[in-house]
Amino acid sequence: MTEPQARHVPVLFQEVMGFLNVRPDGRYVDCTLGLAGHAEGIVRRLGPRGQLIGFDRDPEALELARERLDRITAELGSQAPQITLIGEAFSRIAEDFEPASIDGLLADFGVSSLQFDEARRGFSFQADGPVDMRMDTRSGPTAGQVVNEMSERELANLIYEYGEERRSRTVARAIVRGRPVTSTSQLARIVASAVPPMKHIHPATRTFQALRMYVNRELEEIRDLLEAAPRLLKPSGRLVVISFHSLEDRIAKDSLRDGARQGIWNVLTKKPLTADEEEIERNPRSRSARLRAAEKT
Ligand SMILES: C[S@@+](CC[C@H](N)C(=O)[O-])C[C@H]1O[C@@H](n2cnc3c(N)ncnc32)[C@H](O)[C@@H]1O
Repeated sequence: MTEPQARHVPVLFQEVMGFLNVRPDGRYVDCTLGLAGHAEGIVRRLGPRGQLIGFDRDPEALELARERLDRITAELGSQAPQITLIGEAFSRIAEDFEPASIDGLLADFGVSSLQFDEARRGFSFQADGPVDMRMDTRSGPTAGQVVNEMSERELANLIYEYGEERRSRTVARAIVRGRPVTSTSQLARIVASAVPPMKHIHPATRTFQALRMYVNRELEEIRDLLEAAPRLLKPSGRLVVISFHSLEDRIAKDSLRDGARQGIWNVLTKKPLTADEEEIERNPRSRSARLRAAEKT
């Protein structure tokens, strides 16, 4: 099997580094370490007086990120920056940092290839695994608990709200009839039998996405981060966010626009940046990435 690090390619890497504009003695926070691809880029641009703080609520991801960053620290020796890793949700950032204490904040939302490719994590309808989908495997309900225990009405609302699935009621009815749902492939089959085939995506895509977003409180996490960011950044500090879904990107877009109106943000990306054909070819996951960046005024 390929090493996870080798499989994972950080999206829009050069663009992220360009917008973060890392100062060697600065303090940077990577809110979504994943396999530490972007974090490695930051660490290599920092000097011995610089600092990287990384968050990931997935204990497996945190461990792999730690191994990778330890190797780089060893390689850099006395020139290595200080590195602190935190195995919690990034929404607690406001509790962990003083106001105006950070030079740059990066958040690359969504699921990592480590999570998606691992059948036992239950994120993918293409692999057979338990219906889990939790990033933080230590707590919270699994997607299996949600599909087996929620009322049909609540399930339909959730699939509509987070999956933008127009046939959410039909899907919810099929799921309730198909209970108990014990595997991702069973769930995918149930959903596929309830909605007509689609041209470009698997019919279960939206339902899986909705469950994942709900289980991980993904949109709430993004809102909390964007609300705290202007307070935490120093003047001229940079914020870089990458979303993979229109619901996420809308939150980022609205938050930056409102902040710009209030004179808090200088938005650096009038339109979101996307990957070019070459990057999409190399890394299909980058196809839906949207990068937005802003500078604290
Ligand atoms: C798309 S990956 C990040 C990839 C990373 N930029 C890299 O270069 O390897 C997203 C990671 O963020 C983590 N994550 C997502 N939402 C989070 C949250 N609210 N709090 C902490 N970690 C989160 C996930 O567990 C996952 O490992």
